[in-house]
Amino acid sequence: MFFFQPPAGVPISLGDIASAIRRGADEGSPASRFARLVGDFVGAEYAFDFNSGRTALLTILRALTEISEDENRNIVVMPAYTCFSVASSIARSGLKIRPCDVDPETLDYDYDKLNETNFSNVIALIGCSLFGKLPNWHRLRHIADDNNLFLIDDAAQSFGCSDGRRMSGTMGDVGFFSFGRGKNLSTYSGGIALTDNPELASRIETISKSLQYPGFAGRVVTLMKMTTYAILLKPELYWIPNSMPFLGLGETLFDPDFRLARLGNLQACLGEIKFSQIGLLNSVRENISRQLMERLKGIPGLFIPGTDSERPIPYLRLPVLLTDRETRETAIKRLKQHGIGASSMYPSTIDQIPGIEKYLANTGDDFNGARSLSDRLVTLPTHPYMREKDIDTITQVLTKIRHN
Ligand SMILES: Cc1ncc(COP(=O)(O)O)c(C=O)c1O
Repeated sequence: MFFFQPPAGVPISLGDIASAIRRGADEGSPASRFARLVGDFVGAEYAFDFNSGRTALLTILRALTEISEDENRNIVVMPAYTCFSVASSIARSGLKIRPCDVDPETLDYDYDKLNETNFSNVIALIGCSLFGKLPNWHRLRHIADDNNLFLIDDAAQSFGCSDGRRMSGTMGDVGFFSFGRGKNLSTYSGGIALTDNPELASRIETISKSLQYPGFAGRVVTLMKMTTYAILLKPELYWIPNSMPFLGLGETLFDPDFRLARLGNLQACLGEIKFSQIGLLNSVRENISRQLMERLKGIPGLFIPGTDSERPIPYLRLPVLLTDRETRETAIKRLKQHGIGASSMYPSTIDQIPGIEKYLANTGDDFNGARSLSDRLVTLPTHPYMREKDIDTITQVLTKIRHN
């Protein structure tokens, strides 16, 4: 098949890359400029650039540990179903991971279970906007305040989303974005940490200054990868990398040994160039998500979690729950046969990641909601390469498969 819709992505043209190279040759500090642009856009007082969302989160955790008055507080609560990178950053920080179950219908925490948590040794609580769906920040704020916790807004998947009053990324005491591949805005890789708290900002700044900007060799490698990504993301060519499983496209890994650095100039310049398109990109996602939801809603056995009737969501990928793992696997296989990059997202819940045991604060908890998501979830592409025809194909495939 010579046409394959990637599961997620932001179109980057060779012209965008050429403009980024020209801009990078100018005077100034593109990474701080881009961080400021992002900070101003979401209304955050302080913003710091990093080479990834993981490094941004790790730096935040190190800064929180420094300012925490109680050294017994060494646990971070996070959703039991989310990107493995969140767990990688906590593990790297030396803090313990305490996954808490999620509600598969809302993609948010299971608040009954979260309220039962013993927070006495917890330093921070992470709220995660999976696929652009914001968690209940009001409830999270209460829980954080009642238990004297720092609240972290993981907005890696929700740049440009808002609750109508505040922008995602600014809902906690501190937050961060990822600008990796497949995110709302992509600089190929990158991250920004944000806060309004001057003390926290000063700690983050000090830690960030100890990190290096990429050197010449690193910049050349990034340029090559970025160019390859820009060319191959198009559905007419994406079948090429997609037919090479050893590339591990879209794989999510638990790896506390990730590289720490600041954001490279080329990526920062690309970020500045693509920044003006975030409104358009998210409105395309919102529109495709709406069309898909309309077309899929009557199919028995299929449920779209996390929808909000008052506020359309620019889903980074549209989450769909099927009845069980077997039906989900069949759906993904058929969709792929028809050229649609549907994905089962994270391969397991956080507690089941191989090798994670020694980093966990809790074992033996019940993560039934997270397990149900990891068994039944399929995500559908919502990026600008999607056509009417692809929406028709998805509808036909999901209508025809037998939902157990
Ligand atoms: C929810 C979530 N948090 C954190 C991260 C980490 O971001 P990065 O891949 O830029 O390190 C990601 C990205 O994959 C993510 O999806």
